[in-house]
Amino acid sequence: MSPFRITRTLPEDATGAALRADVRRGLTGSPMTLPPKWFYDARGSELFDEITTLPEYYPTRAEREILLARSGEIAAASGARTLVELGSGSSEKTRYLIDALTGLRTYVPVDVSESALALAGRALVAERPGLEVHALIADFTAGLALPGTPGPRLVAFLGGTIGNLLPAERAAFLASVRALLAPGDALLLGTDLVKDEEVLVRAYDDAAGVTAAFNKNVLTVINRELGADFDPAAFEHVARWDAEREWIEMRLRSRTAQTVKIPAVDLAVDFAEGEDLRTEVSAKFREEGVRGELAAAGMESVRWWTDGEGRFALSLSVVR
Ligand code: SAH
Ligand code: TRP
Repeated sequence: MSPFRITRTLPEDATGAALRADVRRGLTGSPMTLPPKWFYDARGSELFDEITTLPEYYPTRAEREILLARSGEIAAASGARTLVELGSGSSEKTRYLIDALTGLRTYVPVDVSESALALAGRALVAERPGLEVHALIADFTAGLALPGTPGPRLVAFLGGTIGNLLPAERAAFLASVRALLAPGDALLLGTDLVKDEEVLVRAYDDAAGVTAAFNKNVLTVINRELGADFDPAAFEHVARWDAEREWIEMRLRSRTAQTVKIPAVDLAVDFAEGEDLRTEVSAKFREEGVRGELAAAGMESVRWWTDGEGRFALSLSVVR
């Protein structure tokens, strides 16, 4: 058996059908919204990787610092033979875990981005002889089924991506993760923490404009997949801190009054000058909140680690 397999668990044209449904729902509602998974075509995954190297985008560096310091402890606590990673992207920081998990046989990266999975998977099997990589092209919010690889399992969900789900979606998602775990399995969760507003806003509105390009890439995806005629230059990237909900909200603001045609869903969408389309939230967390949400989903957080500046946290949870 080849050490690298890539399996599509979405039904044929699920992507197209789901995108049409999300666009129809999101662009006929008020305010207009779009779910974040549509950012990540090949170009979007590339732009996200560029974001992770920006001086303003601290979460990747902070999480890497924790993984570097704590992978040994995480490995000892979990003893995993299978590592499942949700929203794995480039799997770059995951290498610390893979190196520390001495009994690891199989790595199961799960992502909607086929290009990211293919790149990361091929590199990993070349670097780590003996490691089997079974990549899943799948939506982690839609009833994930894992391959029957041996336990114990460690499920990793890094990058603060959980903050991109809305609170109700988060609760449903954590319950579905809980259902994947057997006693002896563990969840490693990365959460970005509440901090100074300026630091947060800059992380999502960088000087070089990479995050703006990433945000606008979702319009390019809709143009290509649904034949729409969005002009990305006619929208402004906006990142604002919502102090009440403690999340960063990413928006695309129409620079003028304009009508955008989306033939595949038979829509003509009117934007007023200054009207916003909300493309993503990125919630920031506090320790009590994370522990509470995990407990509500039937998991117990047994460890909590932060980077030296207290910007980002990793928590390790188990089921009993
Ligand atoms: N874990 C990496 C990447 C984080 S970016 C890191 O920490 O740097 C978020 C990743 O999640 C992207 O690779 C994106 O393609 C993936 N993703 C977003 N929504 C998803 C969904 N609903 N199902 C599966 N993958 C998703
Ligand atoms: N999970 C990342 C985060 O919330 C995703 C992200 C970073 C992102 N920058 C972005 C999503 C800009 C949309 C726009 O930090």
